[in-house]
Amino acid sequence: MKNSEQYTSEKREQLMQRVQMQMSERRFKHVLGVEETAIALAKKYGASPEKASIAALTHDYAKERPDDEFILVINRDGYDKELLNYGNAIWHGLVGADFVSRELGITDEEILSAIRLHTTGAAQMSLLDKIIYVADYIEPGRTFPGVKEARELALLDLDEAVAFETKHTLEHLLAQEQKIYPKTIETYNYWVAK
Ligand SMILES: [Fe+2]
Ligand SMILES: [Fe+2]
Repeated sequence: MKNSEQYTSEKREQLMQRVQMQMSERRFKHVLGVEETAIALAKKYGASPEKASIAALTHDYAKERPDDEFILVINRDGYDKELLNYGNAIWHGLVGADFVSRELGITDEEILSAIRLHTTGAAQMSLLDKIIYVADYIEPGRTFPGVKEARELALLDLDEAVAFETKHTLEHLLAQEQKIYPKTIETYNYWVAK
């Protein structure tokens, strides 16, 4: 979709179908949950509900792509080779935005940024970045301990919700002895550390 085109309900339907073809039913349900949440947050905090819808629908577009495809793009398109030490969890957002742009023709930088940052967050995040980051964490299908508090925070103060999510995500990664992508630490240092 080009920036100048109007985002009609038909456009949304088309986008939904393109996304649905890329993923399991379960993940597609998650995507719709993120969209519903992101639109609500956009209305509450004064972001564009249309951009929230598009970014939410496409945020996990590349999640089920094989590693080979990501590795090819990382090697070809001038990404830091350090990225090769990570996996799908990091790639599907950071590099997945390129798939969204190339295959779906979405060129809006605000939307692409929200897709890129949805897993790691960042020190500097736009309102839409924060909305997608938080909506991904609190959508109605999520059931982990702490999700209720995260949902309450999201309605009170979006920045507090970003901090809460960042802290708990990092705790979870540490508990599982997973490798931490440096940007996640940057996000923690900016939003959580005193
Ligand atoms: Fe994701
Ligand atoms: Fe997601």
